[in-house]
Amino acid sequence: MIRLEQKIKVLAISGSLRQKSSNTALMKATMGLASENMMFTVYDGLEDLPHFNPDLDVDEGPASVRELREQLKQVDGVLICTPEYGNGVPGALKNALDWLVSSGEFVNKPTAVISASPSPMGGHLAHASLLLTLQMINAEIVENGKVIIPHITLKLNQEGEITNAETRQELEALLQGLEQACTSIGTF
Ligand code: FNR
Repeated sequence: MIRLEQKIKVLAISGSLRQKSSNTALMKATMGLASENMMFTVYDGLEDLPHFNPDLDVDEGPASVRELREQLKQVDGVLICTPEYGNGVPGALKNALDWLVSSGEFVNKPTAVISASPSPMGGHLAHASLLLTLQMINAEIVENGKVIIPHITLKLNQEGEITNAETRQELEALLQGLEQACTSIGTF
């Protein structure tokens, strides 16, 4: 592995607001598998964003939206890890993405998407729907950057560690794809 002089910066966003979220735990476990070239910031403002309203999406916009946009501008890539609610993307996550349609921070941004669920389908409908939105805002989905994890409760232990070898391999491949895409786009 080549060691970079400057770290690749990634914003990690969990689609779950739940304190004991399996997706947030999985996201943090995934961050722990990354190479030393990567540095993560966990976005914690999802809950503070106002409901998307085009009437508010003028001038500088609400402070929490400006903060999200600024954090995205500062990073080379994005990691999203989300549950599925009602066969779709959680409203809070979709709301955040709606604020980013007009401002363009996701354009060509290397992005990896994980969905995890206790169900046998792993939240595949939320995953597909999220990809459609990310495509619309021109995010670059990286190689191996689409991972669906069914039966998540069987694959994470109480400490939030990944106990399933296949899952770990999928996440390592996702991280490699993210690192590679960020390296080729960035000035490393
Ligand atoms: C769910 N869950 C769920 N799971 C799924 O695979 N597809 C779905 O459509 C839904 N819908 C749904 C609706 C509601 C109201 C609840 C409360 C739950 C189950 C969901 O995946 C599970 O609660 C996860 O644990 C949520 O993710 P976090 O918070 O653990 O990351």
